[in-house]
Amino acid sequence: MTNDAISNLPDYSDAALDQAFSSLESQVREEAAALSSSESAETFRLRWLGRKQGRLNEVSARWLKGAPPEAKKALGQRFNAFKAVVEALLDEASGSEPSDAALAAEAIDITLPGTRRLTGSEHPITRTMNEIVQVFTALGYSVGVGPEVETDYYNFESMNFPPGHPARDTQDTLVIAGQERRPLRERLLLRTHTSPVQMRTMEQQPPPVRIVIPGKVHRNDAQDATHSPIFHQVEGLCVDTNITFSDLKGTLDHAMKALFGSSVKTRFFPSFFPFTEPSADVQISCIFCAGKGCRKCKQSGWIELLGCGMVDPAVFAFAAEKQPAYDPKKISGFAFGMGVERIAMMKYGVSEIGQFFAGDMRFLGQFV
Ligand code: PHE
Repeated sequence: MTNDAISNLPDYSDAALDQAFSSLESQVREEAAALSSSESAETFRLRWLGRKQGRLNEVSARWLKGAPPEAKKALGQRFNAFKAVVEALLDEASGSEPSDAALAAEAIDITLPGTRRLTGSEHPITRTMNEIVQVFTALGYSVGVGPEVETDYYNFESMNFPPGHPARDTQDTLVIAGQERRPLRERLLLRTHTSPVQMRTMEQQPPPVRIVIPGKVHRNDAQDATHSPIFHQVEGLCVDTNITFSDLKGTLDHAMKALFGSSVKTRFFPSFFPFTEPSADVQISCIFCAGKGCRKCKQSGWIELLGCGMVDPAVFAFAAEKQPAYDPKKISGFAFGMGVERIAMMKYGVSEIGQFFAGDMRFLGQFV
């Protein structure tokens, strides 16, 4: 055993106290571990707990006595904890029952509840988006993404919304401030649909293309039960030689059956989008009343779910500026875009779109 004296503390900071007591603790543990007989246990007791020359006594004399009042509490707590450790070590060494204080110092209350880790789960929107994507990857589609902050060119112009075209009014959005000096086509805005990624994809690769693009979009729409200024879409694009409207119908009919069940029927209604010609809105037979007519489908038996159409030759002409193989005389294609929230609301019977974004665990916890 060493007979080193207790040295003065450098200061009374918590760090200095921790350091000092932890070095004492490793010392006492080391010494206790080396004990072999009850005789040496008694030497150990005298060395540490001896009333006159014991090291604890010395610690008390050197550290506690001269301590400034504000450090007394921190010091006292550490001292008592350390004393309990020494006593426990001594009890162990002399083979007796540990004291109550020593037990209390080491006790773990196994009746306390443990630290519970909540299991996370996919957000219902992410889950629905992945489900939709999977339906198409199973058909051989690849998956792409694009930026949420988009240029006017990709979001509008190349999608055949010329500057000033009234169709732009249907997709008002937030634009990034302070860009007046830039040409219109370079100005940045929050994309209003995932369709710009059609153009980005075609610029990157010649046909054939079969791709789905999930993502977040933004519109200047007032929030109500079924509208939100932020929502999600899954875009689809298929370009090859001899792609026809029948391919579009077959693909989307299959996709709707895969998503909502094989008894679901689809029908295609004429519609308008600047970037498809002809364009259609797809309706599915109401999944709540099986087409008989109910409140959800406004007694019509049908629910409108997505937009689609044959890629407009004007869109191919923009793509051909970078990839000449998009020659509308040689290739054709179809595109579609569906709202993820709408589909999730139907699948899970959610009546307020805002629930998806409110972050209320009582709602989200139902999708574990
Ligand atoms: N981009 C359209 C929308 O947001 C949906 C759409 C995509 C329609 C592709 C036709 C083809 O409303």
